Amino acid sequence: MTFRARILGAAAGGGLPQWNCGCKNCNLARAGKIPAQTQSSLAVSANGVDWAILNASPDIRQQMADCPALHPTGLREMPLRSVLLTNGDIDHVAGLLTLREMQPFTVFATPGIHEVLDANPIFAALNEKVVNRTTIALNHPAEIAPGLTATLFPVPGKVPLYLEGETVQTDLIGDQTVGVHLQAGDTDAYYIPGCAMLNDDLRARLNGAALVFFDGTLWQDDEMVLAGLGSKTGKRMGHMSMSGPDGSIAAFEQLDVGRKVFVHMNNTNPVLRPDSSQRASAEAAGWTIGQDGMEITT
Ligand code: MLT
Ligand code: MN
Ligand code: ZN
Repeated sequence: MTFRARILGAAAGGGLPQWNCGCKNCNLARAGKIPAQTQSSLAVSANGVDWAILNASPDIRQQMADCPALHPTGLREMPLRSVLLTNGDIDHVAGLLTLREMQPFTVFATPGIHEVLDANPIFAALNEKVVNRTTIALNHPAEIAPGLTATLFPVPGKVPLYLEGETVQTDLIGDQTVGVHLQAGDTDAYYIPGCAMLNDDLRARLNGAALVFFDGTLWQDDEMVLAGLGSKTGKRMGHMSMSGPDGSIAAFEQLDVGRKVFVHMNNTNPVLRPDSSQRASAEAAGWTIGQDGMEITT
């Protein structure tokens, strides 16, 4: 059995370019000078035939069209077995609405993430008689496609932006933001597109993993502020940055991880420019900068 992962979308919410953004990277992407990237999603398979999609981005229609392994195999037969959600953010759930049309598959999520979907009647567009909604408790393995097991675990994070109250805890540990431990045969891979900090629990889990896809939202915490795009820091958004003493690059230096891949990059992140010094230093530290269409097989 071969584990296959394909990055359907390497960008964070908004994508690259983002519709209303005139930042340096977005303009370069519009001009075709750096590769455009769609929003956060990963397709995974243990047999190359049946697939699960981790997070349904608003770009899922194009992402599936661009991925032959996900095309229909008959009039209404699909390789898609399930969609698993790691939080209730718009960039991770809005694509579910594209997957209406009475096509059977399973939506896997924690109780807290299912509550968000259940509370919003627009998701009834996925007829529950056809699209099964299955709850996975934290730390309980579930088979999301033949031969492929997913175990969800809590990751420091926050509730979705559209559910934020007056005060927001940005490193909440619960079932609103989770990471995924994928197991296929002897392969252990992890998918963590949103993470506020690498705590001891996560360090212990990830140590020894063959492959980790990790939150690469920002290069530095004040990147969006410096770009003149508002007051939000990475920490406020529930994302740890790549660089700096508290960053993911430094944190992973202490871990034994076979392959480290950044995903969920915000359009301001300089690593999205292939010739940037920041990309060179991330790569020198052993990281791969994910991009749309990239396939990793173990
Ligand atoms: C995030 O990852 O911080 C969110 O997707 C932000 C958003 O919903 O725009
Ligand atoms: Mn996001
Ligand atoms: Zn931009």
